[in-house]
Amino acid sequence: MAISTNYRTRSDAVPLRSFKAKGRPSAIAGVGVYAPERVLTNFDLEKMMDTSDKWITERTGIHRRHIADEGTTTFEMATRAARAALEAAEVSPKDLDMILVGTSSPDGPFPSVACRVQNELDAPGSVAWDTLAACTSFVYALSIADSFIATERADTVLVIGAEVLSRLLDFTDRGTAVIFGDGAGAAVLKPAQEGAGFLSWCLGSDGRGFAQVTCGNIEKGAYAAKDANPYIDMVGPDVFKFAVDIFIRQATEVCAKAGIALDEIDLWVPHQANFRIIDAAARRIGLPMERVAVNIDEYGNTSSASIPIALEEAVRKGRVNSGDHVLLAGFGSGLTWGATLLKWA
Ligand code: UT7
Repeated sequence: MAISTNYRTRSDAVPLRSFKAKGRPSAIAGVGVYAPERVLTNFDLEKMMDTSDKWITERTGIHRRHIADEGTTTFEMATRAARAALEAAEVSPKDLDMILVGTSSPDGPFPSVACRVQNELDAPGSVAWDTLAACTSFVYALSIADSFIATERADTVLVIGAEVLSRLLDFTDRGTAVIFGDGAGAAVLKPAQEGAGFLSWCLGSDGRGFAQVTCGNIEKGAYAAKDANPYIDMVGPDVFKFAVDIFIRQATEVCAKAGIALDEIDLWVPHQANFRIIDAAARRIGLPMERVAVNIDEYGNTSSASIPIALEEAVRKGRVNSGDHVLLAGFGSGLTWGATLLKWA
């Protein structure tokens, strides 16, 4: 069970920090993904625990998820996604100034996944490190990349979200085991024309909600100890309400800072946590589902990988065109949240 605190998560209990992008603009020049071949369906889970395809489909929108084989590492998956993104962006690894990996499931506390990716790509010398903000890690990492390009400390940055969450799941806990999946997504950022690329940001955290989604025996500080409980635990319904609120508030903030109306969003790419969360927020924002990227049915919740995986699918299917306003928005353990509005270059 999740740690009990008296704190009840309410997104309106915190002021949001948002800002307009400043300095040299940056944009996404290419995206790539990797998902393990092995698929675990809801019907497979029915045979493993007291659950049903009907419950999972109706409560989450998930039909299947990809699960890494034993021995598949986070850095390998991250590297595969990175190679695809570099190819799409027509960028050589040698041109990378920085590699950032958002992950909550690294192969070990150190070295960073980013350094392993750098080694695989044979791109020594670039700055490489991991960002840990749970499911918000990818958006946090994007914001760091944008800041470095804005201040001309970097020209070309690789940002990856990669997770092997199946290693952190207790397959006797139906409350969490049915939700998460494994995968990786990546984006290459480069300087953009004035008026294009990232326009505004909204990032924040509320540590009072630390107990809402946890992993490991955090009260004992026993993440790596022998008696540690390495599993994900969460107060699902509470996080659900928080998520809907924070999605709406973030969308409103980044649009206001970019000077556009909510109905000018051409595509919203939300963190794929639960179809009902996305649907409820989209209704309240006033966005029809044709303007929302959803692929949770295929992947489940892949944490920091979910936004780049959904974005890549949208790009591949021709749902994103030059000049479109694209909203990327996430939330996760911490509690953390992050959103950005960009004008597709
Ligand atoms: O990205 C990480 C952040 N986390 C999230 O975004 C999670 C947000 N929360 C959610 O997505 C939803 O709260 C869940 C999908 C986790 C749960 O859905 P819910 O509609 O909030 O269900 P619940 O937890 O209120 O449980 C309702 C019932 C319970 O049974 P009783 O007490 O009503 O008899 C649960 O025991 O459903 C039961 N249940 C299940 N039944 C079948 C919980 N999990 C399952 C399951 N299969 N897998």
